[in-house]
Amino acid sequence: MSSERFELITLKSGHTSLRLLSNRETFHPVIGPEAEARALHVVQQRIVERSQDYQPFIIWDVGLGAAANAVAAIDALADVRNDVELHSFDHTLAPLRFACDHSEHLVYIQPHRAAIDELMQKGQVKIGRVHWYLHRADFRDSLSRSDLPAPHAIFYDPYSATSNPEMWTLEHFTKLRQALDDTRPCLLTNYTRSTAVRSTWLLAGFYVGIGVGIGEKDQTTIAANELSLLERPLSLDWLKQVAASQNSNPLREAGAIYGPMNAADFERLRQHPQFHMRSLCL
Ligand SMILES: C[S@@+](CC[C@H](N)C(=O)[O-])C[C@H]1O[C@@H](n2cnc3c(N)ncnc32)[C@H](O)[C@@H]1O
Repeated sequence: MSSERFELITLKSGHTSLRLLSNRETFHPVIGPEAEARALHVVQQRIVERSQDYQPFIIWDVGLGAAANAVAAIDALADVRNDVELHSFDHTLAPLRFACDHSEHLVYIQPHRAAIDELMQKGQVKIGRVHWYLHRADFRDSLSRSDLPAPHAIFYDPYSATSNPEMWTLEHFTKLRQALDDTRPCLLTNYTRSTAVRSTWLLAGFYVGIGVGIGEKDQTTIAANELSLLERPLSLDWLKQVAASQNSNPLREAGAIYGPMNAADFERLRQHPQFHMRSLCL
């Protein structure tokens, strides 16, 4: 992992981002790091408004990478009155080091350079009301820690299911769902709009809704541990599309089986409280 190599890339939008050479995946590929982090995670999750109701407000930043999501949160939270704990998880610091070494192009890094250095050295740093913690480990192992506070917000940003499948399985999301505290309303945001991922999150016990569009992508996906947190929950029509879909099978640890969902999984989906009362006649 420490041998991971990156390159700078100019996006169609004209913004600069970075790309991991081994899987050719670009971070924040459409509208660039600052705008995408803000729209997809910070604004959509209403973290500034919601942080006013909790002391402290807890954010899990899964896949710290080059810290665009974390920095967007820190910038947005500059004037909040309550404490915020920002827990960033990654098993490598290679992308963050690359971003620091190229901060003349990845300019969002510049105002936070000293704080990022302190975070990398000491594992934590305080910026205004934000206490930023680095957890340098496999996120899946962090889920079994008893000392981690359950989150109000999860920025879920590993690589794609194709190159990072272990972070997209039903078994993993079931553990993540169990790590939430249901007295603590929590939202999770991600760039995907895949039917298989949405099905996986529902089967893991999340409520799932349509998330904001980003650039050319007309919608993304947002999940929650409370239905009332979702502005546009997936509807019964979506469930009908799953029944007809040729690629809605959840990813499992045993391996990917691309294809339609099996009858047992579909029945579990139909029984999900998000649909149950409305799906009796499906
Ligand atoms: C697309 S990048 C994240 C971009 C980042 N959120 C940002 O704002 O710059 C994906 C990150 O997820 C991390 N990652 C992938 N699998 C992981 C795992 N099992 N545990 C912790 N981090 C993981 C990778 O090391 C990589 O840094």
